[in-house]
Amino acid sequence: KTKIAVLTSGGDSAGMNAVVRSIVKFGIIKGCETYVVREGYEGLVKGNSRPPPHRGNGLAGLNGPLPAKFQDNDFVHNLRFGDGGLLREGEGDSVDDTNGKSLKGRHIIRVGWDDVRGWFAEGGTLIGTARSKAFRTPEGRLAAAQNLIKEGINALAICGGDGSLTGADVFRAEWPQLVARLHTEGKITEDEAKANAHLRIVGLVGSIDNDMSMTDLTIGAPTALHRICEAIDNINSTAFSHSRAFVLEVMGRHCGWLALLAGVSAGADFIFIPERPPAANPWEDEMCEAIHRHRVMGKRKTIVIVAEGAHDADLNPIRAEYVKDVLTDRLGLDTRVTTLGHTQRGGRPCAFDRILPTLQGVEAVDALLEATPDTPSYMIGICENKITRVPLMEAVAMTASVADAISQKDFAKAMALRDPEFRE
Ligand code: F6P
Repeated sequence: KTKIAVLTSGGDSAGMNAVVRSIVKFGIIKGCETYVVREGYEGLVKGNSRPPPHRGNGLAGLNGPLPAKFQDNDFVHNLRFGDGGLLREGEGDSVDDTNGKSLKGRHIIRVGWDDVRGWFAEGGTLIGTARSKAFRTPEGRLAAAQNLIKEGINALAICGGDGSLTGADVFRAEWPQLVARLHTEGKITEDEAKANAHLRIVGLVGSIDNDMSMTDLTIGAPTALHRICEAIDNINSTAFSHSRAFVLEVMGRHCGWLALLAGVSAGADFIFIPERPPAANPWEDEMCEAIHRHRVMGKRKTIVIVAEGAHDADLNPIRAEYVKDVLTDRLGLDTRVTTLGHTQRGGRPCAFDRILPTLQGVEAVDALLEATPDTPSYMIGICENKITRVPLMEAVAMTASVADAISQKDFAKAMALRDPEFRE
């Protein structure tokens, strides 16, 4: 039987809960057992130090016999009954332990259909995420392998950014050695070693940055973009009232997608992105000239967007505060800085960040069920509106080559790698 576990890793993004929901529900439809791993790879490393609570000992049990569809389901015993409400309470560990509702000491949890009900509309990730240091060590991955084998899990779906997906591929590549070592050290039986010769892995890209190659969109990017767009709409009205300039710093790590698209959708006068620094060096003249032109044309407000990873053509970082000083000193504009920060990342997913993870979750389950020892680990993407499967490591390598191109100041190459249709 295929036992699928799903985890979320790295920075959270809107739509991660919809991924979990989709994989759990479609996994069940396909006859799989479904699990969630709490706290990303950290939860895999920690595993379950306590057995599942006694059947019928939880809230559901107190209310009478369990309906058949909830049987074999940790959540209804461990936590709160119905509406996927358990983890919604917050930290499972803090839930009262006395009547079997606690998740304390348990990170790999069996889940059923109703545990993920309504999760498409929830922000962040309800099963928790972490940037695990332990999983980066061979000992950490050994513990993770042992925990998966102990739970009988043979298929893993990971939703995270490029770092998290690289970790997944390393884990899969190392799997045979990990199993052999666990057997030699007497931590698993020969039968367990034989039954677990192969681990199936699939990646889904959850990141607000939209920084992964070989897919048009990452899960969470549309919501973050919408959040920024709304913030600029709000700023626009006050900027107009006072005829002010605003410099907005937006997230995106090394990727300018959020900054560029926010500028297009909410109307910016000048945008700084890492992949294409201003042509003129020094860039101050180019920016002031453009903004002055817009003011002469009658604009009462000025919006400049700075991606957090923006730099000039010599790779010196461009800071929002400095941009503000330039606008104030050279153009005499009354200027303010707004850093949107984590408001961009949290909150309810927009419709597309429910649709995309739902469709990709279905594809991920199919990819896991069809995986053989000879197929690569796949990343589920979207390309020209079609859900795709691409070799995970190819996508990760191409993503890294954008960073390489930037570090070599080959910005045209960086843009072309981000968007093959890009023309100067
Ligand atoms: O990768 C997502 C992201 O939000 C980036 O845009 C940002 O650089 C980073 O994570 C912030 O990370 P943290 O939440 O750890 O401060």
